[in-house]
Amino acid sequence: MGLDLTVNCLGLPFQNPVLVASGTFGYGDEYYEVMPFSELGGLVTKTITAARREGNPPPRIVETDSGMLNSIGLANVGLRAFLEEKLPWIAAHAGQARVVVNVAGFSVEEFIEVGTAVGGAKGVDALEVNLGCPNVRAGYIHFGADELSVRQVVAGILKNVRLPLIAKLSPNVTDIGALAEAAVDAGADGLSLINTLPGMKIDPLKRRPVISMGFGGLSGPAIRPVGVACVYKVYQQMQRMEAPVPIVGIGGIASGRDALEYILAGASLVQVGTANFLHPRAAANVLQEIAAFCESEGVAKITDLVGLAHER
Ligand SMILES: Cc1cc2nc3c(=O)[nH]c(=O)nc-3n(C[C@H](O)[C@H](O)[C@H](O)COP(=O)(O)O)c2cc1C
Repeated sequence: MGLDLTVNCLGLPFQNPVLVASGTFGYGDEYYEVMPFSELGGLVTKTITAARREGNPPPRIVETDSGMLNSIGLANVGLRAFLEEKLPWIAAHAGQARVVVNVAGFSVEEFIEVGTAVGGAKGVDALEVNLGCPNVRAGYIHFGADELSVRQVVAGILKNVRLPLIAKLSPNVTDIGALAEAAVDAGADGLSLINTLPGMKIDPLKRRPVISMGFGGLSGPAIRPVGVACVYKVYQQMQRMEAPVPIVGIGGIASGRDALEYILAGASLVQVGTANFLHPRAAANVLQEIAAFCESEGVAKITDLVGLAHER
């Protein structure tokens, strides 16, 4: 019998567990010729906000040891252009891959506006809610750091939308478990872990931070142990909850072995982010390496590995 890489979660069939992460694969079109996302489990779009955003001034990315810092500032085409120009193309090219649209807002109301509009559009399979966005009405603290904001955003969108909602959490909090619980309590169907960690690089000659905004989000292999630990911890917590939800593992995945760490920690799906910048086919390579691992280890179904690192 052949290897079964399919995953059923969030009420959706995924042809395989590997997706591309928000902000690292645009809207799928630029990469399509070399990396058609239709080969993958799914595409997660760049974060969409209500208005078009140019983002922060350059320099807004810089390489670091084992990773990179970015402060893109949620540059995107805006809700209307996304729905009219980008989404129809994505939907027409998705094949069996799932289309996950990442949404955000700078207030609870904007989150609900964007989530509701995207959630009602044709061709969208699920929403991923970027809770790493700052709340301009609450001292710029990011939504994901505050349980009440998490609840308001998740429940507010789900009041209007029937699609599965994945809450994307930031690791930059004291207790990611409490935020995960708040999201699930409010109705989230899944959790994505993790977004970037805050970091800074300083140029000694210029005596200034390299990135124009000073701080940036750290991603890449450097954050993988943090991401794996967050998934492990939240998976454990899910087992204690009445209705556990699936986890999507993100952070520093560049190989099949990296992805397997997340799956064994408890992720049902994984996303490849920064690695796409090094190799446009990184996600396909990750998938191929997962398959090769399963075949050499005699694993018949990828879902049999989910959470196995917890067994004693
Ligand atoms: C250049 C860049 C842009 C990103 N933009 C977004 C974004 O718009 N929305 C979002 O939710 N995450 C965004 N992320 C975070 C990634 O989706 C991912 O959570 C994070 O980079 C960790 O995964 P990685 O180490 O594989 O990159 C961005 C990351 C990078 C490197």
